[in-house]
Amino acid sequence: MKSRLLRTIIILIGAASLLVYFTNISLSQLNKQKDKKRSFDEQIIDNAESLLVQGKKVFRFETFGDEVFWTDALKLHLAIEGAGFGGVGDGLTPREALAAGLKVDLDALPQPLVVKLKKGEVNLDDPAVTLELLRLNAVLGVIGTFDEALVMNISFLPNQQAGPALKSVGLTCAVCHSIVDDAFAPGIGHRLDGWANRDLNVGGIVSLSPDLSAFTNLLGVDETTVRAVLASWGPGKFDAELNLDGKAFRPDGKPAATLIPPAFGLPGFNNHTSTGGWGTVTYWNAFVANLELQGQGVFFDRRLNNAAQYPIAAKAGFGNKRSDPDLVTKHLASLHFYQLAIPSPTPPAGSYDATAAARGAALFTGKAACATCHVPPLFTEPGWNTHKAADICIDDFQANRSPDSSYRTAPLKGLWTHTKGGFYHDGRFASLPDVINHYNTCKNLNLSEQEKSDLVEYLKSL
Ligand code: HEC
Ligand code: HEC
Repeated sequence: MKSRLLRTIIILIGAASLLVYFTNISLSQLNKQKDKKRSFDEQIIDNAESLLVQGKKVFRFETFGDEVFWTDALKLHLAIEGAGFGGVGDGLTPREALAAGLKVDLDALPQPLVVKLKKGEVNLDDPAVTLELLRLNAVLGVIGTFDEALVMNISFLPNQQAGPALKSVGLTCAVCHSIVDDAFAPGIGHRLDGWANRDLNVGGIVSLSPDLSAFTNLLGVDETTVRAVLASWGPGKFDAELNLDGKAFRPDGKPAATLIPPAFGLPGFNNHTSTGGWGTVTYWNAFVANLELQGQGVFFDRRLNNAAQYPIAAKAGFGNKRSDPDLVTKHLASLHFYQLAIPSPTPPAGSYDATAAARGAALFTGKAACATCHVPPLFTEPGWNTHKAADICIDDFQANRSPDSSYRTAPLKGLWTHTKGGFYHDGRFASLPDVINHYNTCKNLNLSEQEKSDLVEYLKSL
C-alpha cells in the first residue's frame, strides 16, 4: 500500500519535471522564434514606439521627484489646498487656477463631472474642486499626491475640516509647454503637447508658496525682492537663468524673463533655447529637470562653475549635481525622443491669404534675404545656428547670459500658435509687422508696405 503510494508520487514528480522541462524548451524555442521573427528593422520600430509612449508619459506626468522643491521647500501644496484642508490661506479655486493660465484636460474628467460642469453645477470658487481636479490628474503639468484616507472627504464633503489632504505637489514639463484646445471652455479641452502656454503666470503661481526661503537663500536677497521679481514676469514668461546669474532685470529696468517657447518642431535644430549656446534639446531637458523643476537627478556642466558669469550656480554647485536616487537620467532618452516627435501644427485653413503668402515666400528667399539665416525647410541654419546680437540689431543682454553670448535663429513653423506675448526671446516685438519693420530697418531691405504684408502672410502660413 505504502510502496504504491510512493511509486505514484515518484511517477507524478517525474511527469511534472518532464512537463517543466519540455515547457521550458518550447518556451525558449518560442522566444527564439519571436526574436527571429522580429528583424532588426522591426526592433527599431518597436524601440521607437516604446520610446514614444514612455516619452509622452514623462513629458506629461513625470515630476522627477521635484516634490522636494515644490512641496518640501516651497510648500506650494499648502497654498493650493488652503486652510480648509489643513493648508494655509484661502486655497486655490478653479477660477483662480484658470486665470493663472493652468489648463484642464477634458479627457481626464469623468462624464458625470463634465455633465455637472455643463449645467453650471460645479462651484468654480471652491478650492475643493481644484483638489478634485488634481486627484483626477486633470491639471496639465501639476501632479498632486493625496492622503488616500481623506480622498473621500474631498470628493463628497468639500468643506470638511481635515488634515493636509494634498500630500505633495510636483510640476512637469507640460505645465509650461502644453495647452488645451479650449473645446469645452477657455482653459478646458483636449491636450496640445508642445504648444507654449503663454497664459501661464509662472511667477504668480510660485508666489503662492508660503515659504520662499529656497529662493531667498539661493539668491541671497530678501523675500520682498523675490516677490517683486516673480511679479515682474507676467503671463507666458519665465527666467531660466535667474538661478544661475541672479540677474532679475535688464539694464533698462525691464524684467529679464523670456517667453515660454513651444516645444514642437525641434528636430534638425542643433542649438536650442533663444540663446542657443546652452546646447541641444536633451541638454536643455536635463538642465530643466534638474535645475528649474529641481527634480532629483544628475547634472553636469563645468561652464556653470564660472563664478564670474554664474555666481549663483557656481556657489550652489549646479555644475555638478548628484542626487541619490537619480530620478532624471533614466527618462532623458524617451523624453528627448518624444519631444523630437511633436510636429509643428499646421495653420488652420483661411487663417492667412495664400496668394499673398506665395509672394511672401519669394521675398523671404529673395529680396528680404530671411532665408540666409532661416534656411527652409528647417528655418534655422544647419550647423551652429546662433548669431551675435548685432547681426539682428538688438541688445546683447540675454545673449551674454548664455555661454555662447549669442541668439539662436528661431524656428518659424507654427508661429501662429504663439502670437500672444510677442516675438523674439522677450516678446519685444508685439506683432509680426513689428518684426518685419525691425528687419526692414536693420538690414536696409527697402520693403514696400505691400511686400511687408506679403511677408507677414507667409509667416502666418508656416
Ligand atoms: C516654468 C516653465 C517651464 C517649464 C516647467 C519647462 N520649461 Fe522648457 N522652457 C521654458 C522657457 C522660458 C524656455 C526658453 C528659455 C530661453 O530661451 O531662454 C524653455 C525652453 C525649452 C526648450 C527649448 C525650445 C527651443 O525653441 O529650442 C525645450 C526643448 C524645453 N524648454 C523643454 C522642456 C522640458 C523637457 C521640460 C520638462 C523637463 C521643460 N522644458 C519645462 C519654460 C519652461
Ligand atoms: C542674421 C540672421 C537672421 C536674418 C537675416 C533673419 N533672422 Fe529672423 N531671427 C534671427 C534670430 C537670431 C532670431 C531670434 C531672436 C530672438 O530670439 O531674440 C530671429 C527671430 C525671428 C522671428 C521671431 C520668432 C519668434 O518665435 O519670436 C521671426 C518672426 C523672424 N525672425 C522672421 C524673420 C524674417 C521675416 C526675416 C527676413 C525679413 C528674418 N527673420 C531674417 C535671425 C535672423
